[in-house]
Amino acid sequence: MRTDTPLTIYRKDYTPPGFWVETVEMGFDLDPEATHVATRMTLKRNPASQNKSLLLYGEALRLVQLRMNGKALTKRAYTLGPGTLEINNPPDHVTLEIETVTHPNLNTSLMGLYVSDGNFFTQCEAEGFRKITYFPDRPDVMAKYKVMLRADKEKYPVLLSNGNLIEEGDLGDGRHYAVWEDPFKKPSYLFALVAGKLVCQEEKYTLHSGREVLLQVWVEEGNLDKTQHAMDSLKRSIRWDEERFGLELDLDRFMIVAVGDFNMGAMENKGLNIFNTKYVLANPRIATDTDYANIESVVGHEYFHNWTGNRVTCRDWFQLSLKEGLTVFRDQEFSADMIGTDSARAVKRIEDVRVLRQAQFPEDAGPMAHPVRPDSYVEINNFYTVTVYEKGAEVVRMYQTLFGRDGFRKGMDLYFQRHDGCAVECDDFRRAMADANGRDLSQFELWYCQSGTPHLKVDTHYDEVAKTYAITLTQSCPATPGQAQKQPYHIPVAVGLLDGSGRDLPLHLGGVEIDGPAPTTMVLELTQQRQSFEFRNVPVHPVPSILRGFSAPVVLEIDYSDAELAFLMAHDSDPFNRWEAGQRLAMRRLLALADAVQKDHALSDSELQETALGKAYHKILSDRMLDPAFCELALTLPSETVVAEQVDVVDPHAIHAVRQFMRRSLAAAMRVEWEVAYQANRTPGSYSPDAAAAGKRALKNLALSYLMELDEPQMHLLAQGQYDQANNMTDRIAALSALVNSSAAGRDEALARFYAEFEQEALVIDKWFALQAMARTTDVAKVRDLMAHTAFTLKNPNRARSLIFSFCNGNPAQFHAVDGSGYEFWADQVIALNAINPQVAARLARSLDRWRKYAPALQEKMQAALKRVAATKSLSKDVLEVVTKSLA
Ligand code: PHE
Ligand code: ZN
Repeated sequence: MRTDTPLTIYRKDYTPPGFWVETVEMGFDLDPEATHVATRMTLKRNPASQNKSLLLYGEALRLVQLRMNGKALTKRAYTLGPGTLEINNPPDHVTLEIETVTHPNLNTSLMGLYVSDGNFFTQCEAEGFRKITYFPDRPDVMAKYKVMLRADKEKYPVLLSNGNLIEEGDLGDGRHYAVWEDPFKKPSYLFALVAGKLVCQEEKYTLHSGREVLLQVWVEEGNLDKTQHAMDSLKRSIRWDEERFGLELDLDRFMIVAVGDFNMGAMENKGLNIFNTKYVLANPRIATDTDYANIESVVGHEYFHNWTGNRVTCRDWFQLSLKEGLTVFRDQEFSADMIGTDSARAVKRIEDVRVLRQAQFPEDAGPMAHPVRPDSYVEINNFYTVTVYEKGAEVVRMYQTLFGRDGFRKGMDLYFQRHDGCAVECDDFRRAMADANGRDLSQFELWYCQSGTPHLKVDTHYDEVAKTYAITLTQSCPATPGQAQKQPYHIPVAVGLLDGSGRDLPLHLGGVEIDGPAPTTMVLELTQQRQSFEFRNVPVHPVPSILRGFSAPVVLEIDYSDAELAFLMAHDSDPFNRWEAGQRLAMRRLLALADAVQKDHALSDSELQETALGKAYHKILSDRMLDPAFCELALTLPSETVVAEQVDVVDPHAIHAVRQFMRRSLAAAMRVEWEVAYQANRTPGSYSPDAAAAGKRALKNLALSYLMELDEPQMHLLAQGQYDQANNMTDRIAALSALVNSSAAGRDEALARFYAEFEQEALVIDKWFALQAMARTTDVAKVRDLMAHTAFTLKNPNRARSLIFSFCNGNPAQFHAVDGSGYEFWADQVIALNAINPQVAARLARSLDRWRKYAPALQEKMQAALKRVAATKSLSKDVLEVVTKSLA
């Protein structure tokens, strides 16, 4: 908790540490009430540093002993500040012995050492190690660790830490011990220990090189029937990193541990990854297709960090995207490669771009906007953002777009050749890419320094006589906090041209000679504010397909007619742009309808079938050759959040009303087709989470949700039947959600039955809360009721997210109730969470950060709620930073 005004930390103020740590030995006497930690470390002066003193960080620790080079330090020899311990005038070589005490059972922040369901876990990224002992807790200080864990044998039979188990034994008196040694140097944020009653699924696995490694997935006893998918995902990750990047697992043993109380998704601690149960546990009964896919990608993500994050780590936390953007890119490519086909790869790409638009574009346009490599922060935990992760991944993807897979691989190889074992900067990665490909990437740095989403305007001109086609690209980037003016970016723009029958034309770009057949997609490199590209030998006036595959994270402004969009949706060889054309058509109609609502015009859909949109949707839904997963994405309307981004003043009620209206219209207009799609995409037989089967279920369940918009008894029966017969959670929860959002008589009973059946499965109860939080009829009063349910607790982040975040972020029409009761509720929960878990509280605080975009009556009430939070006593710096920036 804050005791003074929080300090802003600036990237430009980086200085190297005064001392390097060489070895760390730790002894833990694990006890939930009071754990004693004895640390012995050897340090040596860093000759390259101006910092003469030895600065250690520590938080919420009781210091019991402090010895330097064998002697107890007197009070005058060191200074204990808030959060720091500074040793005055130390010699060049230092051995420090520190004994501290922490209280794991009181630790609700879930940072440092804490207890979850009776077991011990640690979380040290970004600055949690300092809650375990005093230490130069910064990522550029890398050391070798040896750790002894001691604990009651019966309560904590399993004792784990990083690296290799080198010794274990009995201590008598009912206690036992284990000694772990990590052969690799690592920053303190990668330290981990786990102790408790756990069991594991384990397998021996042979690496490409022939070396055998031990893989383990550790869970609580009742969950051993839910580990197979995580284990399979781990093996696929190991294989993929060998094949695609030539990167081998460097340890003899690799462990994944699941924990029910966790702030984030998972953590890449060296050799001992700790996961939120949500991203480990799966079987058909409890997990949906989305859960299966997420588990595969998070297991991959954490495993890939072993090279991109652990072997090569970050010099300071401003460089966070060095490991996160790169590792998200890697996990996206992994997931795409696992599903294989081009069409399935495109589906993955569309899903990733959807996340970017849904969450990152709004962040980039709001008061918390920051560059991929931020220049300052108050609390680093607030910078584990969609910008650092997802936009960072887009920035990495652009290297691959510019240089191809082979060029990208060359850059990666050079990066590891240069920096293995080091703590480096985003610039080092960019330099490796530039040098390996013989290219100047200085302008490309702007993607790391400038915040805001660039806009790309497209103008075209066809010269019928000369048979030339000119594409003129103009870029701009809106002002963001602290950045009024922007310089032009280096933007790769993948383009293609379609002829009248929808075929790709061969491309001949003026001034560019290409051996072999002319390509049908080319990457134009925009580096100026405005630039023209002229194609020669263009026989007919083409329809342009711009930004294929979403080749850069920008907003594309292009004036297509409805007919052109329908044409692209039907013919573009680039599946991303086919989807995109449909989204544009739908968005156009949604915005027109929203405008009508605000002018109090009655909505009419009588001619929907006759519109370009109606025809295009009909065509997609009736095309039996199309991949069902693609159809599902193409027939899903832009979300309310994405629509809100398109208007200057957001009226959440109008947006909700028109989206619902359009869903009902589409349901009625294509009723027969939806029924056919529902039947055609059933997946009888035993459940498999593979992409093909999941795609069919997705389309079938989309059909169900549209049909349920008709709110007819016959459809209620369809949903009820699906619920009763489902042999997997995907179908079951889809049916339940459809029922809950309808007027079906059985909906309350279905909810009650679902609860009774899954009462013992925490992750399913999370779904039960989330589904209700997002239901159309759930208002603030109902959410407050649900908070009083015996299964609800604010202390468990998954549970808090399932109810409170789902409501505040996932139910805009109810959250933005005109009386401001949603905002009152939000403030109450931010304040309550602040006292329990500042990180989770600060995430929730973000829900109001776009308040200035709303209609004035709502704005006023949001501002009042924000001010109430800001004025709260003992606010964490996490929450304070978010609300202060929101109000600024
Ligand atoms: N480094 C983790 C990841 O992205 C995320 C994380 C950050 C987890 C901070 C816990 C705490 O894989
Ligand atoms: Zn990560």
